[in-house]
Amino acid sequence: MAQEDTFKKIVSHCKEYGFVFPSSDIYDGLAAVYDYGQNGVELKNNIKQYWWQSMVLLHENIVGIDSAIFMHPTIWKASGHVDAFNDPLIDNRDSKKRYRADVLIEDQIAKYDEKIDKEVAKAHKRFGDSFDEALFRQTNPRVLEHVAKRDALHARFEKALNDNDLQELKQIILDEEIVCPISGTRNWTDVRQFNLMFKTEMGSTADGASTIFLRPETAQGIFVNYLNVQKTGRMKIPFGIAQIGKAFRNEIVARQFIFRMREFEQMEMQFFVRPGTELDWFAKWKETRMAWHQALGFGAENYRFHDHEKLAHYANAASDIEFRMPFGFKEVEGIHSRTNFDLSQHEKFSGRKIKYFDPETNESYTPYVIETSIGVDRMFLSVMCHAYQEEQLEGGETRVVLRLPAALAPVKLAVLPLVRKDGLPEKAREIMDDLKFHFNCKYEEKDAIGKRYRRQDAIGTPYCITIDHDTLTDNCVTLRDRDTMQQQRVKISDLRSLIEDKVSITSLLKKLQ
Ligand code: GAP
Repeated sequence: MAQEDTFKKIVSHCKEYGFVFPSSDIYDGLAAVYDYGQNGVELKNNIKQYWWQSMVLLHENIVGIDSAIFMHPTIWKASGHVDAFNDPLIDNRDSKKRYRADVLIEDQIAKYDEKIDKEVAKAHKRFGDSFDEALFRQTNPRVLEHVAKRDALHARFEKALNDNDLQELKQIILDEEIVCPISGTRNWTDVRQFNLMFKTEMGSTADGASTIFLRPETAQGIFVNYLNVQKTGRMKIPFGIAQIGKAFRNEIVARQFIFRMREFEQMEMQFFVRPGTELDWFAKWKETRMAWHQALGFGAENYRFHDHEKLAHYANAASDIEFRMPFGFKEVEGIHSRTNFDLSQHEKFSGRKIKYFDPETNESYTPYVIETSIGVDRMFLSVMCHAYQEEQLEGGETRVVLRLPAALAPVKLAVLPLVRKDGLPEKAREIMDDLKFHFNCKYEEKDAIGKRYRRQDAIGTPYCITIDHDTLTDNCVTLRDRDTMQQQRVKISDLRSLIEDKVSITSLLKKLQ
């Protein structure tokens, strides 16, 4: 199945099974804003719990906060967001559609990569097992031609971005003959900058309302609480502050479902370190965060680092963790070495002294910061993309199964009486009433058992139990495993110990130790 078709299916599956709905659905939706349904919110909460606990439980020197979305407007001046949180925009005069100039060019670069991959795949098919991919990539003239074009374009693009040269960005679009996907024409306007922050008013106009911004990242809420937390928590450097919360960006090109949203959620951790040690901590956090992703068991080959060549003016290193989505490798998380930029700026703009006295060195300094920043929604999307599978079963039947890591699955156990009579529902309820205190259980009695199994497969429930007539006398149930579809007869009294460990977040956290 083409990757594009798979992605479409994942999007409709998310809606059909109560994971993600378009926001304001009965009013035909609101662009790039989504709601999480009854299963989505459970999966999302589990992702957040996995992250939170990996930070706050597993690190004695990391604590959490929950800062407000509304913040003093000067914060965004100090952080640079008022002046520089911009995207380069371009309009197509014929379709009247607006695009991010940098995204148009990045897509063009990706096209060269696709051409290279196609050549490799073709050759692989032709030469079979004897195919030497590395040699082919080094010597095939067509591949080399595409690589040269891609590299030249990439270098030109990087330079234009570094120089903030909007005219050059437009020239690249013209030279590469990039067309508007809607009108198919090259009738482009000039490129101009567009600030991504949403504004609103606080207070009534009579009182003199002030313009404030919806936060575009949660990180600044951490920086402005650095002193409060360090002092009240008596934190010693190195230490971290973690936060999960909503962020808002007026994205121009909102696409690929929940990949790029206007209202989304971030899980960010700022780790404060002694100046001069930041690059060691940066390397350590890259490794720690990659291990967190890979503990989910999606396969190391589906992740890669993308080290930034173009650094923000305040950063001295930055790297993304990318995941293989159906539409290519995409950023899920950023790890940034932000120097002491943010704290110094807040010191300057607030007039408050933001320093740390290091008892080990007898020095006072502004701490340096390593940030790890991951989007909850992007993480959710990567989990769904990996989990969604269509399987061909014996006898020609197909099943859609979400192979979610059990610890993230919305429902852990479905409790299914075989029939709706003979005391089976009552027995099922009795089991459910005991187990529901330990993990999320769902009771279902409608439809044939096969149909109920399929419904649970489709939402990724790792275990189902069936209560049949024998249960009433032998106190055993049939336990079915989602992935293998194998069934075994087990004692009701063993259920909790058989399931609880496998579905708990602790099972994931233990892999990180
Ligand atoms: N504090 C640093 C920061 O915000 P970022 O690279 O702009 O860095 C961090 O964002 C993460 O937030 C991204 O890796 C992505 O997962 C998520 N993210 C950013 N913009 C997003 C959007 N419009 N929709 C969904 N997730 C987004």
